[in-house]
Amino acid sequence: MQKRCISKDWRFHLDRKPQYEMVDLPHDYSILQPRDPGAAGGAGNGYFPCGFGEYVKFMRLDAPHCILDIDGAYMNASVCLNEHLLALHPHGYTPFLVDLTEKMWPGKTNKIAISTTVLQPSTRWYSGAGLYRDVFLWTGGAVRVEPWDVFVTTIHADQTAQIRIQYQICSDKTVTASVRTEIRDPEGRPVAEHTDETAVSSAGKSPLTVEFTIPQPQLWDLDHPVLYTVHTEITAEGEITDTADTAFGIRTISVDAKNGFRLNGHPMKLRGGCIHHDHGVLGAASFPAAEERKLRRLKETGFNAVRIAHNPPSLALLECCDRIGMLVMDEAFDMWNSGKTLYDYHLWFADWCARDLSYMVQRDRNHPCVISYSIGNEIIERDGMSDGAEWAVRLAAEVRRYDTTRPVTSGVCDLWNHLDDQAPADYQAEQHRIFRKEPVPNGEKDCFARSTEAYMAPLDMVGYNYLYGRYRSDHQLYPERVIWGSETQALDFYDSWHAVLENNHVIGDFTWTAYDNLGEAGTGRSCWMREGYIPRISTAAYPWRTCYQGDLDLCGYRRPQSYFREAVWIGHTEPRIFTTHPMHYGEGFSGTHWHWYDVLDTWTFPDEYLGKPVQAEVYTDADEIEWCLNGRTLGRSKPEKGIARFDIPYEKGTLDAVAYRDGRECGKSSLHTVGTAAAIRVEAERASFHADRRDLCYFDITIVDENGDRVPDAKTALRCQVNGGELMGIFSGDPKNEDSYTSDRAHAFEGRALAIVRTADPGCVTVTIHGESLQSGSASTMAE
Ligand code: GAL
Repeated sequence: MQKRCISKDWRFHLDRKPQYEMVDLPHDYSILQPRDPGAAGGAGNGYFPCGFGEYVKFMRLDAPHCILDIDGAYMNASVCLNEHLLALHPHGYTPFLVDLTEKMWPGKTNKIAISTTVLQPSTRWYSGAGLYRDVFLWTGGAVRVEPWDVFVTTIHADQTAQIRIQYQICSDKTVTASVRTEIRDPEGRPVAEHTDETAVSSAGKSPLTVEFTIPQPQLWDLDHPVLYTVHTEITAEGEITDTADTAFGIRTISVDAKNGFRLNGHPMKLRGGCIHHDHGVLGAASFPAAEERKLRRLKETGFNAVRIAHNPPSLALLECCDRIGMLVMDEAFDMWNSGKTLYDYHLWFADWCARDLSYMVQRDRNHPCVISYSIGNEIIERDGMSDGAEWAVRLAAEVRRYDTTRPVTSGVCDLWNHLDDQAPADYQAEQHRIFRKEPVPNGEKDCFARSTEAYMAPLDMVGYNYLYGRYRSDHQLYPERVIWGSETQALDFYDSWHAVLENNHVIGDFTWTAYDNLGEAGTGRSCWMREGYIPRISTAAYPWRTCYQGDLDLCGYRRPQSYFREAVWIGHTEPRIFTTHPMHYGEGFSGTHWHWYDVLDTWTFPDEYLGKPVQAEVYTDADEIEWCLNGRTLGRSKPEKGIARFDIPYEKGTLDAVAYRDGRECGKSSLHTVGTAAAIRVEAERASFHADRRDLCYFDITIVDENGDRVPDAKTALRCQVNGGELMGIFSGDPKNEDSYTSDRAHAFEGRALAIVRTADPGCVTVTIHGESLQSGSASTMAE
């Protein structure tokens, strides 16, 4: 069938109000409402509200068969056509199909109504609300291949590639159909072609498998993410009844405990990051341009893989990863029958999990970027309680019904405490006996190993959340087990990455998180001793908004840990300097352990600190750093686990860090004292963009001094004016301010902010940013 995006022009009603507004999808009605410290979703949902939303579209449906494809709707969606209820769909992130054919009025105006009811608390991170992804319409004829019914796999790829195409063909009557399959190379040229005459039945779907050998294939990999297309044409009773186009990549993957992960036969360690689905001020709305900007930034900073936590991603994200060369760990669930919040998916899991898994796998299995399917993250039943092991077997089998070419996995953390300290003593004693965590002699199974063994048995590889200390010892117990570090913390990264490098059976490390997200507010925070104490695992009160754990902040600007990771992963990068404010010299601090050090790339402090010590640090893989202040050498320090530190008495001017490897200079970077904020610099990230009210242009906003240098601690109040376009939002990476996401105002954070614009009209789009007593700045781009 042919697919078309129908995201434009929907009537949207919030909370059953009769009046509507016209919106284009993707659309998130949660982000468009004011935050509230008392919001039912609490810190988990970033204090954003929820509510009921209904989207209505009137459109002609002409084709003999029409199928609606909803890529994600949060949550409890119901779909009606001409007032008939056709489908319910509780899961907030899985894509789903709704066949409109039976109840549609062919050739006439039809009414499609999709509603979402967001219950809170139902999420541990910002969920978004409504049709926050695209909606598509598939159309086809009497004999056809329906959405997701073409499955392309690479059997083998080298000098030649062997490709298998498995069709499921639907037909209104039992006939002989001719199915013509053409493979087109990345330039659209046909490279192979074959026609099958096949009997298709009206009772159920008729399978057909076609195999091709393609000489000298262009393999999909991270540097050359080339995509081929399968073009299918079905003819029955002398008429072409259907065509379909399916993109795919020619590539092979494998995992085993000896060779680790291999792409096209080449071993590779995964430099991974976990990400949630929101895009800051856009909320959960999955604009393709927003997905692409996020992923490109991650790729530029060294990531080669992302884990989509803890739900299937948007199609737009997968298409982008296919296009730019980024590997994806797909994930279905964050809970099974035992819930983590009051109204989360555990209420529907038993009835819906098989369908939701099938939707995820069938939509995603042609994407070369997808390299595994996770059946769950930190599932409470992982210790075997509540039939966890049986469910694991069932879910893994369900995935393999649709795809056996990718490993099935699950992210598993240490056991949580079941201990009930208010229970009678004999009950507690029995619990202690079962869940005792005491150390066991080398080579024996401890409580974790024993309790999770059956859960892990059906998996092809196991994600270890924060358990890198077990990589080696668990290999002794389970030599065939393939492991990946499905979550690790930036503070531990030097060790967790080295544990990956030292163990062949461990295929990669995925930091929690790679990109800051809304919700789970404050889980990445730290505080100085004078401000109080932060317990290890805790969220924070309003106005905290973001999780604040990302290598990149909410706007995609690099945080210090991103430079640290790059130095450890890639090495040979310039030794970036960061400093701790001298007011905290020698002061202790606490944090959740998902935090990073409270450092900034600045050499500008108030005069009262002249002569006072400042702790400076650089992230580097060099042997030694030489510190120079205003041209004078102060001394050298050696990095410990990637960080070289030095105490320097504050003096205005230029601080240089010169890196040495094998006695030779190999890199240098500097910080210098800047003046006070004087002006605003605005830069458009793209010279042109599409005037389709869907493509986005981002404008970087920097607060600068009179020399044009960024003022790294500026929190200036800003106002945004857009000419020739529509402001989608202005915001900063500040994890905890009260800026409204629907206004034209925001406060800068660390001297930066970001504005996002779209437009329907071709022409010049200009963004001007004003700030009190600063020279305004503006930039333009062309909408075409
Ligand atoms: C992990 C969990 C993540 C997130 C993180 C803390 O254990 O899998 O989803 O909650 O803790 O931010």
